[in-house]
Amino acid sequence: MKKYLMVCLGNICRSPMAEGILKRKLEEKGIEAKVDSAGTSNYHIDEAPDPRAREKAKEKGLDIDQLRGRQFTAADFDRYDEIFVMDKSNYKNVTALAATADDKQKVKLILSELQSDEVAEVPDPYFGMEDGFEIVYQLLDKACENIAKRTR
Ligand code: 4NP
Repeated sequence: MKKYLMVCLGNICRSPMAEGILKRKLEEKGIEAKVDSAGTSNYHIDEAPDPRAREKAKEKGLDIDQLRGRQFTAADFDRYDEIFVMDKSNYKNVTALAATADDKQKVKLILSELQSDEVAEVPDPYFGMEDGFEIVYQLLDKACENIAKRTR
């Protein structure tokens, strides 16, 4: 069974949305896998996702209300097969904790799953406009579709 971890800075906006989206796609395809999320910071430990992320998820028929923030730790390298980060800053923070080359290889920018290399990073919607969450949803939906397609 494949084990995936979604990582952003706060674990209250982008990565819980990614977790919810990928879980649903895998369920729809009848594929058993583990999907979790974490943040590189300790800012929002044990908090529910941001109300704007929960609202956007609900609008798309997804319930992420029960998810709670946690911080990424080096032990996550042993628990997951692939670690998808949202932006280059997350990449730097996560790979800084990698003990081996194998660990580091597990870390990927999630948008590297898109065919187009136009957009490399999922923009942080936390300090931005409401439509930032729609942009984030659209990018994550496409990336997660490709991840789900190649999951066995
Ligand atoms: P996320 O968004 O990394 O997508 O969860 C953020 C949430 C909180 C903060 C920054 C980004 N913050 O600075 O508290």
